[in-house]
Amino acid sequence: MSDEILTPRPVRDSQSEMAEIVLPNDTNPLGALLGGRLMHWIDLAGAMAAHRHSRSYAVTASVDHIDFLVPVRVGDLVILRSSVNRVFHTSMEVGVKVFVENYLADTSRHVASAYLTFVAVDVNRNRLKVAPVIPETDEQRRRYDDAGRRREIRRSELERRRRASR
Ligand SMILES: CC(C)(COP(=O)(O)OP(=O)(O)OC[C@H]1O[C@@H](n2cnc3c(N)ncnc32)[C@H](O)[C@@H]1OP(=O)(O)O)[C@@H](O)C(=O)NCCC(=O)NCCS
Repeated sequence: MSDEILTPRPVRDSQSEMAEIVLPNDTNPLGALLGGRLMHWIDLAGAMAAHRHSRSYAVTASVDHIDFLVPVRVGDLVILRSSVNRVFHTSMEVGVKVFVENYLADTSRHVASAYLTFVAVDVNRNRLKVAPVIPETDEQRRRYDDAGRRREIRRSELERRRRASR
């Protein structure tokens, strides 16, 4: 892995937005959005922010738990907003926040939030060092600090699972 100095980039460079209209093929027989479909969109929205920040390929290393807060229906507009919260060495935590918009009722509700860890890799899947991210707003600084705490929890959980599976 190269030790070259990477130029830090602000969080805003990675901010991404993705929109989907929920179609019948995205739903269960009751017309509600499938959780698996939403998880797929969350992964894609997260990858966009990871690619934009790292300017490289990136693989999903983990997804923290996701709560589905409100049901989403056929015809609803789903908006996914993502950005890099914090970079470690080769990995970065990306936050994805999902909203559902009903354009007839002119409402917007928070559907889910998720934290994903992506690892930057080259075309041969060798890990790459990622440029630091610069939080510029109070909210970005809070997310940056929280990401450090979540990384410690993830690492100890991963270690616990590894020990349990030996
Ligand atoms: C993710 C992956 C690259 C990690 O590689 P590894 O050889 O286990 O590497 P390490 O244990 O040395 O960890 C490398 C980095 O990944 C992070 N990492 C590894 N496993 C992780 C996990 N489960 N959750 C969060 N971060 C993780 C480490 O903290 C480390 O970060 P750092 O460099 O910023 O300190 C490797 O496990 C992999 O390729 N997994 C498959 C990814 C994939 O195909 N995803 C698509 C879903 S099918």
